[in-house]
Amino acid sequence: MSDRSTKSGTPIETRQLLHTSRPIFEQGAPGRTGASLPPCDVPAVDEKVALGALARDAAPGLPEVSEVEVTRHFTRLSRWNYAIDIGLYPLGSCTMKYNPKVNEKVARMPGFAGLHPAQAESTLEGALELMWRLERCLCELGGFQRVTLQPAAGAQGELAGVMMIRAYHADRGQRRTKVLIPDSAHGTNPASCTLNGFEVVSLKTGSDGLLHADVVREAIAANPNDVAAIMITNPSTLGLFEEHLGEIADVVHEAGGLVYMDGANFNALLGKVRPGEAGVDVMHINLHKTFTTPHGGGGPGSGVVGVGARLEPFLPTPTVEKAPGPGDKYRLEYHRPKSIGRMRSWFGNFGMFVRAYTYIREMGGPGLTQATEMAVLNANYVRARLAEVYSLAYDKPSMHEVVFTDKKLKKETGVQTLDVAKRLMDFGYHPPTIYFPLPAVTGGAGALMIEPTETETPETLDAFCDAMTAISVEAHQDPAIAHAAPLNTAMRRLDETHAARHPKLRWSRD
Ligand SMILES: Cc1ncc(COP(=O)(O)O)c(C=O)c1O
Repeated sequence: MSDRSTKSGTPIETRQLLHTSRPIFEQGAPGRTGASLPPCDVPAVDEKVALGALARDAAPGLPEVSEVEVTRHFTRLSRWNYAIDIGLYPLGSCTMKYNPKVNEKVARMPGFAGLHPAQAESTLEGALELMWRLERCLCELGGFQRVTLQPAAGAQGELAGVMMIRAYHADRGQRRTKVLIPDSAHGTNPASCTLNGFEVVSLKTGSDGLLHADVVREAIAANPNDVAAIMITNPSTLGLFEEHLGEIADVVHEAGGLVYMDGANFNALLGKVRPGEAGVDVMHINLHKTFTTPHGGGGPGSGVVGVGARLEPFLPTPTVEKAPGPGDKYRLEYHRPKSIGRMRSWFGNFGMFVRAYTYIREMGGPGLTQATEMAVLNANYVRARLAEVYSLAYDKPSMHEVVFTDKKLKKETGVQTLDVAKRLMDFGYHPPTIYFPLPAVTGGAGALMIEPTETETPETLDAFCDAMTAISVEAHQDPAIAHAAPLNTAMRRLDETHAARHPKLRWSRD
């Protein structure tokens, strides 16, 4: 922020005087309000008497602001945010694709938006039908027998899936303690297993980035009759298709284990692969990624879980059933004796079901398949355009995302992944995912994981690749610029370690 001088020649610190940088707690005045309430039409109550010990001694210190102040405050904050409605959001592994507005329109229809989950079941018929239909669509797409819509996120879907695996073995009188997980898995996978009391056996992917059946055989031999399952992300977090999944599933099944596929990246397979038919017993899908329900700091998500015949008895309750007989009648089923029980309150994030169902019906089968093809094409386009500029982590065709490392750039210029990510912000882009996936971050290399998604046009992809190329060219001419970036943003480069270790989580006057 440049300083100006007053008439007397004293410099003005413009940042301090910048009216838009004041937090809302420093705005307003005592007694100011943005709302006018009608006169109280119930008897006044002394809150100290009504609340007893729970009553506060002093007012909570909330901002007292006018409507215009609060409107400007939140509008200003929203303009500091990056969003998919502003531009390309190439955050690998997160599938930040455009959320069609028709989804929102349908989700806001009063018949859906005005529902209350505590309504009598007999008045929820339409909502139950939508849930039943969505489940049928997801079963068809994934090749599963049933799908639970309850989990509120991919990670909770994993938790539900692994709970079902545990219940399955317990039902057979077995206590298996190990789950095999390749090193290319998403970080939530080991967490879901540990939460379920399983021990994780990490499997090394090959130099081609793939998991090979021999590695699985060896791990099973080292843990006889103790492997409950394998948990495999496909496509993996390296953006690669696990070509040996079928063989691996056979190996695990022969040893009495089950196959969990992390299907959060299902957007790369939709209409092409039905995992339930490839030996997968259980898989979660992130509706907020593949099926365009909004996410990214904006929640709520939905991590639905599909299962095959082996795990069907263990599904969470309630399930939605279509009653036999004439007419389409839908009801909730709570009586499932082997169920793992509820995963959350009520029935799941219903608004997300409406959006996902709208998307599926709007796209149709051919449209969904085309979206998959475009997602893979776009990732490979970025791969081809940047292959000579950055170093490819794996010399294999990409699925929905492509991983580069900074090996070449760092060696030639000293500019590294973090600098590239920060400099991209100066070009108006959200940075890609960095220093992930872990197998790509070996020997001190930094990874840039780019997921362009299918909703971006060739012009947008070209503009992004031009910016990435310009950063590399500039780094060779003057690396100091990238080291200092970002230069054009509201905040300059922050000390991220300090921010993480000493977070300031609340505003204070001091
Ligand atoms: C491969 C994979 N698995 C699991 C998850 C966890 O999903 P969520 O963030 O909804 O909990 C993600 C998130 O993007 C993911 O990419």
